[in-house]
Amino acid sequence: MSTNISTKIDIQKIAKSRISEVDFENLVFGSTFTDHMFECDFVDGEWQTPKIRPYQPLVMEPSSKVFHYGQAVFEGMKAYKDEDGKVFLFRPDQNQKRINISAKRLAIPEFPEEYFMDGLITLMKMDHEWIKPGEGNSLYIRPFVMATEPGVVASRSNNYKFMIICSPVKPYYKGEVKVEIAQKFSRAADGGVGYAKAAGNYGAQFYPTKLAIEKGYQQVIWTDASTHSFLEEAGTMNVFFRVNDTLLTAPISDRILDGVTRKSLIQIAKDQGIPVEERRVTVKEIVAAAQDGTLKEIFGAGTAAVISPIIAFAYDEIEYDLPKLENSYAQQLKKYVTDIQYNRSEDPYGWRFEVKI
Ligand code: COI
Repeated sequence: MSTNISTKIDIQKIAKSRISEVDFENLVFGSTFTDHMFECDFVDGEWQTPKIRPYQPLVMEPSSKVFHYGQAVFEGMKAYKDEDGKVFLFRPDQNQKRINISAKRLAIPEFPEEYFMDGLITLMKMDHEWIKPGEGNSLYIRPFVMATEPGVVASRSNNYKFMIICSPVKPYYKGEVKVEIAQKFSRAADGGVGYAKAAGNYGAQFYPTKLAIEKGYQQVIWTDASTHSFLEEAGTMNVFFRVNDTLLTAPISDRILDGVTRKSLIQIAKDQGIPVEERRVTVKEIVAAAQDGTLKEIFGAGTAAVISPIIAFAYDEIEYDLPKLENSYAQQLKKYVTDIQYNRSEDPYGWRFEVKI
């Protein structure tokens, strides 16, 4: 992958940047957007000339299929700025590939790799001033595709819009996270869309999560749909358990997102000599480990939060607290991965991708 642009993008710049109106110290995650957005329409069986426009509302038919049947997929990625003002993306090739894996599952046409990368890089070059250096600051990048064909017949759309919008952010979670293990609701089932970043996957979590929040838990740890006995994901993230010194996480399947943070942490942990087991993790063994004191940590891993340590979980209405550890795996792994992301350390894996401004 290079930063040379080969795609012809039709660009209209904003007349006056909105950046001076933004309070970068008090951002609410994902609610402020940069000056420009990337868009590309799929019409008549092909992707048209991509465009960059000032960030603005869209005009869409109320019957557009995305509103009725949820035919939409998205990605989450981040750009970081180092202390010298250099801009980096983290493993953008992984998001580019995954959006097409998700798209295929939703019968959405693949978006060409060069359009994705050229659109992303051009947008970064145009809006790089919105990326602030410093721990916790980043630009959350949201590529997505949605079905735009009008008509309420329940069939795949013939028209789509691919977009990239960008939001300057601070850390995703403020404060400590407690979770409840799901015993009734499910996030994903075999043969379903759990592995895809399908919009509806997330929308379907809101009601069970609302019930958990009412009980004092910020997130739900999702279990398998058939037996509720295997631990699968936490909220919108992959989930890791540390029992004694071993890290456990569910293997990739139909039901589990192949998380970029997940796979990066597994690689780092193994290379740091931490034993990692990718296998089905049972509720029973984690409750038993909490009871006998061998459960040391639980943490979520995803692009938005990077690593989100969990301080307690509830199961069968009983709350189990996790110990407060010095030098936890969560801290060590977060430092390792964010040092790469912010260009504070060597990048032995080649994950950092510099956008030459
Ligand atoms: C991620 O962390 O990767 C996400 O997709 C979170 C997003 C739903 C805000």
